[in-house]
Amino acid sequence: MCPTPTLADAHEKDLIAWRRDFHAHPETGFQEVRTSGLVAERLASFGIEVHRGLARTGVVGTLRGRGEGPSIGIRADMDALPMQEEGDVPHRSTNPGVFHGCGHDGHTAILLGAARELARERNFAGTVHFIFQPAEEGLAGGRVMVEEGLFELFPCAEVYGLHNWPELPFGQIAACAGPIMAASDFLDIEIEGIGGHAAMPHRGVDPVLVAAHVVTALQGLVSRQTSPLDSAVVSITRIEAGSTYNVIPRVATLRGTCRTLRPETRNAMEEGIRRVAHNVAAAFGATAKVDYRRNYPPTVNWPEPAAKAARAAARVVGEANVVRNAQPTMGGEDFAFFLEKVPGAYLWLGAGGGANPCHVHNPRYDFNDALLPVGVSLWVELVRELLPTAR
Ligand code: NI
Repeated sequence: MCPTPTLADAHEKDLIAWRRDFHAHPETGFQEVRTSGLVAERLASFGIEVHRGLARTGVVGTLRGRGEGPSIGIRADMDALPMQEEGDVPHRSTNPGVFHGCGHDGHTAILLGAARELARERNFAGTVHFIFQPAEEGLAGGRVMVEEGLFELFPCAEVYGLHNWPELPFGQIAACAGPIMAASDFLDIEIEGIGGHAAMPHRGVDPVLVAAHVVTALQGLVSRQTSPLDSAVVSITRIEAGSTYNVIPRVATLRGTCRTLRPETRNAMEEGIRRVAHNVAAAFGATAKVDYRRNYPPTVNWPEPAAKAARAAARVVGEANVVRNAQPTMGGEDFAFFLEKVPGAYLWLGAGGGANPCHVHNPRYDFNDALLPVGVSLWVELVRELLPTAR
């Protein structure tokens, strides 16, 4: 166990109360009306200028320091998942089928806590924009904020974000340079053959057999056409065809996701998936239509901001608890859209172990409240690292 910061008791109690209140009242992407309302209200109560309405429910709080200096952004995501909570915590979701299963309740409480701490002293030169974004879970709220002018309205020299990370031991912080999360793309493949009697397959073209060959051949893109030192994942997650025992259907459809860490690999995988689907289908006399949708780009940390964040992290959890060369994961993250525009870094806050050790998106997951002061201290230290002190 590493030394972790503890804020004054009263402040920590507030953080826990805010987090559990968000948890009890979860809202899905672009529907974060209550959550964003509370965020805006609290920011205003700390004396922070509030802007609302970017990407519908987005909130940006602007805190100016006591002197001229750079502007930086810190981001939290506010949305919950459309899934049922199965845990029995006292603050369990009161909204059926909606659940803070990824800990964005904690990220929101952490950023509010940091805003309060920084607003109290304002002993820095420059400006901090606290960016509360909607719809991280698959709906690209981050992209919408960028498209609607986030960085034109609130110019940021650098931008930072974090995620609680149960795979990393509690009290560690990972701040690696380069890719940390993958590009996350979706694909649909429609294979068209010729339907007919299942007892006379030679009179038709069986799209089910073609689909099976396509699924198998796609794995060759990963194992034979991607460097063993690079990473790619293609997972077919749904196969649909047919209606009964004795009919060969006309159409079979496949659905899945492709994950990559580098733009070149992403391009090669998209091209490869199209090529494999079309040519395997053609080999059997069928045709394939491929709909490949680029969802989230890879989240790529900029080296210098990652180093600055690591220095700030070391002051919070100790040098021994900072992971500077973390392996990326193939999960996606829409903070990627921010890092495409502005230098910055995305960090993982170790949340492993504890009373409820399951991973995010598990129906019994609950954000580890012991992380709240760690996260607040990280953001406060980061502002000290990035902006000159002013008195
Ligand atoms: Ni998340």
